[in-house]
Amino acid sequence: MELKDSVSIITGGASGLGEATTRKFHSLGGKVCIFDLDNLRGKNLEKELGENCAHFSVDVCDETAILNAINIVINRFNKININVNCAGIALTEKTFSKEGPHDLSRFKRIIDVNLVGTFNILRLCAEKMAKNPLDENHERGIIINTASIAALEGQKGQIAYAASKGGVAAMTLPVARDLAREHIRCCCIAPGLFLTPMFEGLGEEVCEALAKDVVFPKRLGEPNEFAEYVSQIVQNTYINGSVMRLDGGIRLA
Ligand SMILES: NC(=O)c1ccc[n+]([C@@H]2O[C@H](COP(=O)([O-])OP(=O)(O)OC[C@H]3O[C@@H](n4cnc5c(N)ncnc54)[C@H](O)[C@@H]3O)[C@@H](O)[C@H]2O)c1
Repeated sequence: MELKDSVSIITGGASGLGEATTRKFHSLGGKVCIFDLDNLRGKNLEKELGENCAHFSVDVCDETAILNAINIVINRFNKININVNCAGIALTEKTFSKEGPHDLSRFKRIIDVNLVGTFNILRLCAEKMAKNPLDENHERGIIINTASIAALEGQKGQIAYAASKGGVAAMTLPVARDLAREHIRCCCIAPGLFLTPMFEGLGEEVCEALAKDVVFPKRLGEPNEFAEYVSQIVQNTYINGSVMRLDGGIRLA
């Protein structure tokens, strides 16, 4: 699928990996719609990128708000043919600790945003994509979700996050199979450690320590490297149904 003249919905598109994707798609001639709760960053990016960018301050879990926003996108840009899901939150809490068992509502919140939120967006986008005419590559749309290497190598205290990302990864093949008849692909990226606002907050020393385990190159990933990978997946019609690591070879103990 070509990025020029594409219309994408990018959740979490106002920060980190999502923001890099928003900028990349825009630079390649795409129209970008950011679905992100961060109103300040979202509106600033919308202002910077101009008329081919629209920000919606919506929660990916809110069925009605998302449906309304998607309808506005269709009215303004006439189609949706790319959906990249980057909105996500993290939590550190052990299954059981001195404070007692893992708080159930916090567990559910992570599953809700990372897993149910991703599914909420992709199902609504898929319905709209199915109405697109076939493009020159015989495609109608593509969905790219963001899991994490924590889906496979979750660390202590990552039970909720790892479970949510495991769910995102596991959805990939059934979604690709469900949507194959409509000529819509579904892929998933499992990033390693990337230097985003989340990681920047940890400080230089912690980032350096984490980077030691990366095989090569010995550094954290840059958001632009994620965006580059997303664009390559969009442009290569034969990539479908897979969960792909992007991690400099790191394998967490
Ligand atoms: N940074 C990493 O090293 C890394 C590694 C593996 C996976 N990931 C995943 O990549 C994705 C992006 O991470 P990032 O590091 O860019 O994080 P980030 O915090 O920089 O960006 C996440 C964005 O999602 C938005 N968001 C959060 N909850 C939302 C909701 N309910 N509705 C709408 N928007 C919401 C936030 O406002 C924020 O702008 C996440 O799913 C994260 O789990 C990140």
